[in-house]
Amino acid sequence: MKKNDTNPIAQRVRQIPASGIRKYFDLIASLEGVISLGVGEPDFATPWHISEAGIYAIEKGYTMYTSNYGLIELRKALAAHLRNRYGITYSPNNQILVTTGSSEALDLAMRAIVNPGEEIIVPDPGYVAYMPCTVLAGGVVVPVPTFVENDFKVRAEEIEKRITTKTKAILLGFPNNPTGAVMERKELEEIAELVRRHDLYVISDEIYDRLVYGVEHTCFASLPGMQERTILVNGFSKAYAMTGWRVGYAAARPDIIEAMMKVHQYIMMCTSIMSQMAAIEAVTSGEEAVRHMVAEYDRRRKVIVKGLNEIGLRCFEPRGAFYAFPSVKSTGLSSEEFAERLLKEEKVAVIPGSAFGGCGEGYIRCCYAVSLPDIEEALQRMRRFVERHHG
Ligand SMILES: Cc1ncc(COP(=O)(O)O)c(C=O)c1O
Repeated sequence: MKKNDTNPIAQRVRQIPASGIRKYFDLIASLEGVISLGVGEPDFATPWHISEAGIYAIEKGYTMYTSNYGLIELRKALAAHLRNRYGITYSPNNQILVTTGSSEALDLAMRAIVNPGEEIIVPDPGYVAYMPCTVLAGGVVVPVPTFVENDFKVRAEEIEKRITTKTKAILLGFPNNPTGAVMERKELEEIAELVRRHDLYVISDEIYDRLVYGVEHTCFASLPGMQERTILVNGFSKAYAMTGWRVGYAAARPDIIEAMMKVHQYIMMCTSIMSQMAAIEAVTSGEEAVRHMVAEYDRRRKVIVKGLNEIGLRCFEPRGAFYAFPSVKSTGLSSEEFAERLLKEEKVAVIPGSAFGGCGEGYIRCCYAVSLPDIEEALQRMRRFVERHHG
């Protein structure tokens, strides 16, 4: 690159595409009467007792920095939560780091372990931040395809084909955004066996761990021998409807958490104390609210999956998160064309599957964390659209 290049933006940043999701937000904002199945966030407000804990923090003058690791009370509560739920023991002193959303935890995990040119194996389709986080840390993304025929689960043998001498880690994001796929324990055990044999690490983004329907979530770090090799990433945004509070966390062995904390202390210092105090309330007393929201998502899930299949958009049954991922191939439109035209013609916002990787082409992501009447109205509009665009 010439020294006096007129573009001030670093190559590294130019390399990463703008999120395929954000550009729809501008379009949605410019139209009236849109039903949005686009944004991936709960439609519930944060349960009031959790919000109150944040308000109380401000009222009582808890307005200062915390330890770089996060409030020790929160780390203790998270350690107890992980022990009770998944039977894994993390020391609150040096194995848990509180972050600004799980987004920061993902970024820190990459920066802490990736050397330039090292490869991270990432299931495709997958969450939009995985590729940019890897690239910004100097790593190389190696996508591993997942297919509807296998309920969008990632298979150990497909991962193994992509392991090279440069492979550092496998990034797992299950329950999956955008597909709603959930991995079964025995399928994860096969991946754990690979991790052991090839001396790899796993970054396991389990932000949707609580949002599963009729199946059990297996925490990857709870598999034999995997706690040492896993950076567990999680947060409060989805399960507790706390997207705006920006609290997440990472749990891993002390040397990895120490490395992540080293980066975190210079770029973030700590997560907002009010949000951390609300998070303590969430993790210690939020169980009932989580159950209530999960039951409601499940009701909506059944309605949207049935509805999409009835209008000819074939949809496998998602068992986790709050997304349906139907095929739009029968319309002959690409996923981007489908999403753009559906928005303009019928004012329903969905996200093209291609925004989540090459294997997402031919699908759209419909978030069902919206009210049942809105889901029903969206389905009617989509039915009209599909009838117009069929063959
Ligand atoms: C799979 C996945 N991981 C991480 C995040 C980031 O969540 P947050 O930073 O709010 O914790 C999201 C948000 O949509 C997500 O879908």
